[in-house]
Amino acid sequence: MFKKEAEGESETCRAVVLTDFGGYEKLKVKDIPKPEIKDEHVIIEVKACGMNFADLYTRQGIYTFRGMKPPFVLGSEAAGIISEIGAKVEDIKMGDRVLCWSYAYNMFSEFVLVHKSQCYPIPENMTYMEANCIVNNYLTAYLCIVDFGNLRSGQSVLIQAAAGGVGWAATQIAKSVENVTVFGTSSPSKHDLIRENGVTHAIDYTKTDFVEEILKISPLGVNVILDCLSGNDFTRAQKCLKPLGRIIHIGITGMMQGEKRNFMKNLKVWWQTKDIGMFNLINNNNAVCGLSINNLFEKDPDAFRCGVGKIIDLYKEQKIKPRIDSVWSFDEIIEATKCMVERKNIGKIILVPKKEDNVDKVEQFQN
Ligand SMILES: NC(=O)c1ccc[n+]([C@@H]2O[C@H](COP(=O)([O-])OP(=O)(O)OC[C@H]3O[C@@H](n4cnc5c(N)ncnc54)[C@H](OP(=O)(O)O)[C@@H]3O)[C@@H](O)[C@H]2O)c1
Repeated sequence: MFKKEAEGESETCRAVVLTDFGGYEKLKVKDIPKPEIKDEHVIIEVKACGMNFADLYTRQGIYTFRGMKPPFVLGSEAAGIISEIGAKVEDIKMGDRVLCWSYAYNMFSEFVLVHKSQCYPIPENMTYMEANCIVNNYLTAYLCIVDFGNLRSGQSVLIQAAAGGVGWAATQIAKSVENVTVFGTSSPSKHDLIRENGVTHAIDYTKTDFVEEILKISPLGVNVILDCLSGNDFTRAQKCLKPLGRIIHIGITGMMQGEKRNFMKNLKVWWQTKDIGMFNLINNNNAVCGLSINNLFEKDPDAFRCGVGKIIDLYKEQKIKPRIDSVWSFDEIIEATKCMVERKNIGKIILVPKKEDNVDKVEQFQN
């Protein structure tokens, strides 16, 4: 990928490159060859990119798409303006504002080449920063709470990491169902904001046991659990799942412990999660579901697009409101990453290509 740069042949653009698996020092801003257009692709001039927890797993080498190895440009989502169109692209035009999802990285760059199927038009009143919350946060949350969770009026839900990007979205999706009780875990400093967002009972997981807290209030437990933690938290969560309850498993946040990969912690969390007891499921009348939006995109892009469409409709109807935690330039990639690793974010962390594009200027090009 970086061959041409070395030969000095092509026009370049700036990108956040993961140079190797490891600590923060493996994240570098580099000049890479500007992408060249292909028939079924478009080139997007990127205005904002979304940082996700998966970017942390990727840097540490816990998980990468099809075992990809660095160096590569990091990032799964971006939003911007169409700046070039391939010969076989008909339904997208120059200047269109789009968000794009990439399961194989490459998004933290000033210009990105994406297949036309990876682009979704964004409505006029949606900012580029908000557009970055649509797939990883809201689509994930919607598929878990509505499709798998089938959350209905009068029911209850536990949302782990309720102040995070997905947790923030899941709370709003859950509250869109009438008369729902939302239990949410987060660091205590975030409790006021998660309550404002719709959490009924905020749980400080750093000092109390979330299972006990829930059972004190709701002795039978909850109907739906959104689990992004894995390990013991996932196993124990099933103790507060009502009969006929659904737990949806989406992440391995519990494997993260600071800047560098901790193999023992990874192994422990994997070990604690690997078995889902067949007889436990039958005896407890529970359902365990798993979701990967990446695999959904690969295997059923129509279902994925349909889901994105539903989220955009909810946005237009003002039923959801993404929360941007902070905006960082590519040059601040390490600070942005630390913000997530150190559990400081409430909502979405955004990256913009240049320092001068930071907050104020970014807001100017948000219509
Ligand atoms: N399967 C899928 O398709 C899919 C799609 C999207 C996201 N996900 C998963 O959903 C989860 C949330 O993703 P996100 O991008 O929205 O991230 P996020 O929730 O914004 O992640 C950061 C937050 O996680 C909480 N946290 C809990 N334990 C942590 C730890 N050991 N280290 C760091 N933070 C910890 C912290 O909040 P508190 O201080 O409040 O604890 C922190 O602020 C991740 O596990 C991600 O992999 C899965």
